Amino acid sequence: MSLSQNVESLLGFLDGSPTPFHAVENAVQALGSEFVRYEFGDSDLPDTGYLLIDGTLLAWRLPSNRLLKSFRVIGAHTDSPTLRIRPRPDDNSAGLGRIGVEVYGGVLLNSWLDRDLGVAGQVVLRDGTSFLIHSSGAVARIPQLAIHLDREVNDRGLVLDRHSHLQPIWCTLPGTGRFVDWIGDQLNTNADSIASWSLSLFDISSACLLGADNSFLSSGRIDNLLSCWAATCALSASTPHEDTALIIALFDHEEVGSDSLNGASGPLFDRLVELISESCGTGKSDLYAALGRSLLISTDNAHGVHPNYPERHDPNNAPFLNRGVAVKINESQRYASTPHSVRRVLSLFELEGLNPQVFVSRNNIACGSTIGPITSTRVGIPTVDIGVPQLSMHSAREICGVKDAIELTRLLGAHLRASS
Ligand code: CO
Repeated sequence: MSLSQNVESLLGFLDGSPTPFHAVENAVQALGSEFVRYEFGDSDLPDTGYLLIDGTLLAWRLPSNRLLKSFRVIGAHTDSPTLRIRPRPDDNSAGLGRIGVEVYGGVLLNSWLDRDLGVAGQVVLRDGTSFLIHSSGAVARIPQLAIHLDREVNDRGLVLDRHSHLQPIWCTLPGTGRFVDWIGDQLNTNADSIASWSLSLFDISSACLLGADNSFLSSGRIDNLLSCWAATCALSASTPHEDTALIIALFDHEEVGSDSLNGASGPLFDRLVELISESCGTGKSDLYAALGRSLLISTDNAHGVHPNYPERHDPNNAPFLNRGVAVKINESQRYASTPHSVRRVLSLFELEGLNPQVFVSRNNIACGSTIGPITSTRVGIPTVDIGVPQLSMHSAREICGVKDAIELTRLLGAHLRASS
């Protein structure tokens, strides 16, 4: 792919993936028909396959001679902080219909005000079938209180009650019916057939390039769909190795702690490792040795230095936009990087001629965490945490550097391609 094709593909992935359910469907499309769907209970693990459960996708290439000496893995997360629609959302106030929402993850609340919002996600019918919806237009909005009714807001700062102040309006009463009727219309089905859903609000503005030099990428969900897209591109472009299994693991539920069936703390990745080991006829001791030789690159965006708040970083250990992918290190093990895993990823930077940056948080500002330490702890696989520096993390609209996004795909491509 050329540079502009790459960027177009990334913009399309961001716009087409308002929820984790859409992200994994789009990743499967991007992997192509060579990748065969596998479900637990199928007799054979395909050489080139994937496992998809709700918003989580694991995809792999087995070693071509089924001799398992190591794994090369890329991990990322599919979910982003958002507002989810409650099961009984219908509510009214001041003659307007509102939709009740629940805060999902560490939302930067103010960023959701005064945006034109769509609705997307998974709907499950009473017969057990499930469907994805993705509204084409704006459905709802959370209007901010006018400055005339909140005169001190600019000096005191905006204080939002997480429950009362975030309910979006979506119709003028009496309206056209209940929210469930609207879902029924989207699916051309009777509202009575709908059992449950996981539906999110999303900003309908398209992802775009920004800046006089088009050097920035602006979109919702850059954290962490950028990494999911780069991981998918890397696996899709890879070829099988003789003795190394290649895996991408795109997990849901990172933003709420990863404790779920299909989160990074769940059993799916361990199960896949077991199945690969079994299909290669690897004994337990050899599997543990193979895991010890392996490398998981956990990719999740990093905090780039904000030009208006440079004091929030340690200047010697801070990543800047458009100066390269950051290696993330934390001695309290909030990141899983170790001196050995850092050495290995630095050799990939060198192989590709890329500039590495580094992120270590200030001692008085706790950093976030990622799926890296969780997966490393569960599976016993050496791991390094890296990520593209971005601004506005967890805003409804985030921003990063285009150059860094492209460099991430090159780095991850090299990881799945490298011979040592
Ligand atoms: Co993230």
